[in-house]
Amino acid sequence: MNHSELSVTFLDCELSTPLVLASGIWGTTVSLLERAATAGCGAVTAKSCGPTPRSGHVNPSCVDWGGGLINAIGLANPGVEEEVGLLQEAKARLQPRGIAVIASIFAGTAAEFGDVARSIARARPDFIEVNISCPNVDSEFGEPFAANAEAAAAVTAQVKEAVAGQDIAVIVKLAPNAPSIGRIAQAVVHAGADALCAINTMPGLILDPYSGQPVLANRSGGISGPALKPIALKAVYDARKACPRTPIIGTGGVTNGQDAVEMLMAGATVVGIGSAIYLRGAAAIQTICAELQEWMATHHIPRIADLHNRAHRELLYSDSPSTPPVPQGSVEGG
Ligand SMILES: Cc1cc2nc3c(=O)[nH]c(=O)nc-3n(C[C@H](O)[C@H](O)[C@H](O)COP(=O)(O)O)c2cc1C
Repeated sequence: MNHSELSVTFLDCELSTPLVLASGIWGTTVSLLERAATAGCGAVTAKSCGPTPRSGHVNPSCVDWGGGLINAIGLANPGVEEEVGLLQEAKARLQPRGIAVIASIFAGTAAEFGDVARSIARARPDFIEVNISCPNVDSEFGEPFAANAEAAAAVTAQVKEAVAGQDIAVIVKLAPNAPSIGRIAQAVVHAGADALCAINTMPGLILDPYSGQPVLANRSGGISGPALKPIALKAVYDARKACPRTPIIGTGGVTNGQDAVEMLMAGATVVGIGSAIYLRGAAAIQTICAELQEWMATHHIPRIADLHNRAHRELLYSDSPSTPPVPQGSVEGG
């Protein structure tokens, strides 16, 4: 399928489509990253990796509860040394096809984030996504760095310093469970973040009424999929308001083409897809691309950039308050 009208600029990269494979879904092997690209993702994110190998939580660790998924995978990953090899191979295969490769990192302290970033930079990914929604305490879903502006900024500063002069842009991934996502977004941008990803999963609990026990082995987990969509739209909307010029990967509950349109209108520059791919595979990516194209054709929207920020009247009309309510032009999403 020809995607030419779906092309979009994200940071300095020209992406063939605005769809981004979210972290933790298919990012564990090069062939899965390639499959996402072939299906229509313009950029692909690897599974988050930390300083050392980690086996994660035992099953059940991911459950479809009806409104989406709940997962507590427990950041299972092979550790940064092995991840460098995976990313190098992914880059070699995907760069010639114009697909951006996003590494994802987590760590327990700000300094350790810097160490992991320094190591992962050896693979020369296009971008490093900093998962500050991961636990900084023993139990998963303790208070994430992303809940605290100072802690989030400290992590960002360490990662930026670690990759300084290497031409690798840093994306900071925000959590929904922060008192003010706009304040966190501004704090990390002031600390040097080149872009934002909003959002990670929302903490939740699913119970089995027959046993009275939580369904997940880890007991609680992170909610994603359709139930997350309005929360993600609000987070992206707030982050865009707080940081009018910063590129944003809008992620959370995007299941069809219209969801993607809404995410772009809320302020996303490009759109992350997680649970839809986890549940429906490559077909989800192909269908969302086709539906997005169809929506744009039906509504006479020539370019993705024409959808950016439409929910933000103050950004669209700041120079001309008398402009008609249906925008004719575009406002770039950073
Ligand atoms: C099974 C699973 C594993 C995930 N693992 C990670 C991860 O390793 N790192 C990360 O930053 N986000 C991870 N996420 C969160 C997703 O990247 C995404 O932010 C979230 O699921 C919301 O998007 P969605 O509603 O499209 O799934 C994971 C999500 C799921 C469902």
